[in-house]
Amino acid sequence: MSDIRDDATELFTAITGRTPDGLWSAPGRVNLIGEHTDYNQGFVLPFAIDRRTVVAAGLREDAVIRVASTFSTGVVELPLAELDGVRGQMDWADYPLGVAWGLGRSGADLAAVPGVDLVIDSTVPVGAGLSSSAAIECAVAVALDELWRLGMSRPALARIGQLAENEFVGAPTGIMDQSASLLGRPDAAVFLDCRSLEVELVDLGLAAAGLTVLVMDTRVAHAHSTGGYGERRASCERGAATLGVSSLREIGIQDLDRARELLDDVTFRRVRHVVTENQRVLDTVRALRENGPLAIGDLLDASHRSLRDDFEVSVPELDLAVETALENGAIGARMTGGGFGGSAIALAPLDAVSRIQVALDGAFAEHGFTNPEVFTVTPSTGAERDS
Ligand code: GLA
Repeated sequence: MSDIRDDATELFTAITGRTPDGLWSAPGRVNLIGEHTDYNQGFVLPFAIDRRTVVAAGLREDAVIRVASTFSTGVVELPLAELDGVRGQMDWADYPLGVAWGLGRSGADLAAVPGVDLVIDSTVPVGAGLSSSAAIECAVAVALDELWRLGMSRPALARIGQLAENEFVGAPTGIMDQSASLLGRPDAAVFLDCRSLEVELVDLGLAAAGLTVLVMDTRVAHAHSTGGYGERRASCERGAATLGVSSLREIGIQDLDRARELLDDVTFRRVRHVVTENQRVLDTVRALRENGPLAIGDLLDASHRSLRDDFEVSVPELDLAVETALENGAIGARMTGGGFGGSAIALAPLDAVSRIQVALDGAFAEHGFTNPEVFTVTPSTGAERDS
């Protein structure tokens, strides 16, 4: 952490000739369970990870926003009043610019606030399905909220991050990633009802149970602004409309027989995934509270099978990672995030980690797949001011 803070501060000074007014940071996330349920008004259970994005930020005397990062060249610069005209055109800078734009849409007066310099660095890998984009959005959201004295709540900032992603970047994603990044706590998962936006923190107790979470990044790139993600979302919405409900949250497992009669096979399987996944989130929360993390392995496995067979968002690399982890001592494993690439997670005893790592290297080589990036993550604190 101190490295990325130092690097962001140094670059900030090189670009502006000043020291930043402050440093804010926000984490990436893994989703423990509850996949493709958020935009169906369902339940999710993600946690914030110990990989963070930091933003060095300082107010300006004009009305210009400038954005730079340690992972790109050049400085993006434009008047706050012109943000609307560049939507979706600024590559990675769409994320921080989208948040400033989203704040403007949600009550901040962009004609009255001062300009700002934002310099970003990150240890959240890009394209790994760990919400590097939400980490940027949330770090920038808490920074601008404080610098512009907006006093917005964390749930309101999560909505603004989602708005930025949906309407500035153009990816039709839900509210899970921003919620995890803003509300995460050490050794806890964020149990979010995406219909009421009620949040409860659920203790994970991983260390006490001798367990850890292993991320297995397949390095198969994915993008949610194109293709499959939007199609799945549209399919869920069509299913809900045919069933006469406003969202799939309104139906339960007892309604699936009727759904099978009314829907075509593909839509039915999409619906069945969402409905059963919501139930698995509730079962996981109950199991964690009553029996601890050793009791949730089967639920993680069932989630993966449902995503693979019913929702069809897995890829061979994710399936291989899950199978290999389970064969080598993991107590549960599943793909995490939107799918079509990205990462899987394994819940594993600490003493199985190196065995799983070696087995993954071997299995991926045998299949001719790119070597996966494998590392453990610790459930960590959400967005905050660092200095
Ligand atoms: C991506 C989106 C989230 C969520 C997941 C699938 O990570 O950003 O909103 O829909 O996919 O659960």
